Amino acid sequence: MTGDGAPGTGTTPPGERFDHFMERCLYGPDGFYASEGTAGRRRGDFITSPEVGPLFGAVLAEAVDTWWHELGRPEPFTVYDVGCGPGTLLRSVAAARPDRSWRLVGIDRVATPGASADRLPDDLSDSVVVANELLDNLPFRVVERRADGCFEVFVSEGGREVLVPTDVSLDIPIGTRAPLQERAAHWTAAVLERRPARLCLFDYGAATTAELAARGGWLRTYRGHQRGDDPLADPGRVDITTDVAWDQLPRPAALVSQREFLQSFGIDELVEQGRRHWQASAHAPDVEAIRMRSRISEAEALLDPQGLGGWWAATWRNEGDQTGLVS
Ligand SMILES: C[S@@+](CC[C@H](N)C(=O)[O-])C[C@H]1O[C@@H](n2cnc3c(N)ncnc32)[C@H](O)[C@@H]1O
Repeated sequence: MTGDGAPGTGTTPPGERFDHFMERCLYGPDGFYASEGTAGRRRGDFITSPEVGPLFGAVLAEAVDTWWHELGRPEPFTVYDVGCGPGTLLRSVAAARPDRSWRLVGIDRVATPGASADRLPDDLSDSVVVANELLDNLPFRVVERRADGCFEVFVSEGGREVLVPTDVSLDIPIGTRAPLQERAAHWTAAVLERRPARLCLFDYGAATTAELAARGGWLRTYRGHQRGDDPLADPGRVDITTDVAWDQLPRPAALVSQREFLQSFGIDELVEQGRRHWQASAHAPDVEAIRMRSRISEAEALLDPQGLGGWWAATWRNEGDQTGLVS
């Protein structure tokens, strides 16, 4: 891995490295997120699991409760949601477990700029850190492998892509590209250094960088619920993200599909409860009955193997803690 310039050329880089361009487009003063606070969400550019409805947070609350019990029910106990956007996830967790006195803390760089890991306390042993769709949104570099070596994507002043030879070498098929997710790896390592009881990250991705490269289509842009293709078009007006290459991060204790994660923490039971509640009050439904019924359609979206259910849940645990792993 090399520094910030255009390695191997001995000349000034012909523009911005892709991750710097992305940083500016998303988080700069005129960027995608800056223009409307927590943003894309309000403009409806994408729908995340917590935004599907309260069910995702209700299942996460079950997971947190399991971990809290495994830790011996410490008080105080804190749940951090990093990259929390408008804070929907923690509101759902709180609504699902009003009987718990956990501290629920949302952190998002839009509201409070800065390196988010630095804003976490040094000791997280009585805390759980979660993040939904944070890693995909952290600026990444783009590397292409050709028969004659690796090249890195820069963006010229005119907004065109320029390929620059690089010493960075990714083990991907010749003729393909992959993201180099240094920021995501550093962020994860920085959180783990603080030894959280659990770190649980949800995102789209693939187990390995080589798989991502071979599959293609990993660089996603979103605008108005539609996926676009060209990340250089209309800078600052579209979200730019990548599928996460999980092998670029510290190795998790468990890496499973979101579907498996939600099922292992009782989504089916919560849906069944919802169905029974609805049936019992269908003759005179109130707001609660309608909320319970909506669990059925929320679960369909959250468990869909072609959609949110096919995304990943990666869990790390404090190495000093000998309690059981999540499945
Ligand atoms: C795709 S949105 C996900 C929002 C929310 N977690 C959800 O699931 O609806 C990604 C969020 O991560 C935030 N973000 C990006 N980089 C961050 C960082 N370094 N620290 C904290 N938040 C960050 C963005 O501001 C944005 O709100």
